[in-house]
Amino acid sequence: MYVVMNELNVNEDQHEHVKARFEKSKDRMNDVPGCLEFLFLESEKEDVSFIVFTKWEAKSDYENWLNSDAFKHAHRGQQSQSQEKPPTTANNLRSFDVVFHT
Ligand code: HEM
Repeated sequence: MYVVMNELNVNEDQHEHVKARFEKSKDRMNDVPGCLEFLFLESEKEDVSFIVFTKWEAKSDYENWLNSDAFKHAHRGQQSQSQEKPPTTANNLRSFDVVFHT
């Protein structure tokens, strides 16, 4: 089992906008092979705004999704040539092998 979290920093005035965008991701992530869980977390501290939490059956399932059109489609807005300024000002990716779980 494998866990990947992407920490996002988003300007305060964009929080509701970003939450609404990720709301639509719930059902999409249900259909991704090997994705066991998808959580969109809002932080109580100011050092980070949101955490995109994903849990996978295997690291290879995560890597397959990373190389998929579904991933590219969801991240189109992050490209610099996009007209619209992306609401995310910084991100920090963390990945983990799961040692124990219940
Ligand atoms: C350059 C790095 C990344 C940034 C800045 C970023 C930011 C974002 C943003 C803003 C969205 C919402 C897109 C929309 O407006 O609909 C999104 C979608 C998403 N991101 Fe990322 N992301 C990055 C890479 C990753 C990685 C490596 C993961 C792995 C956990 C990840 C997990 C997700 C998931 C699960 C979604 C929802 C996918 C869907 O709706 O189908 N992101 N990301």
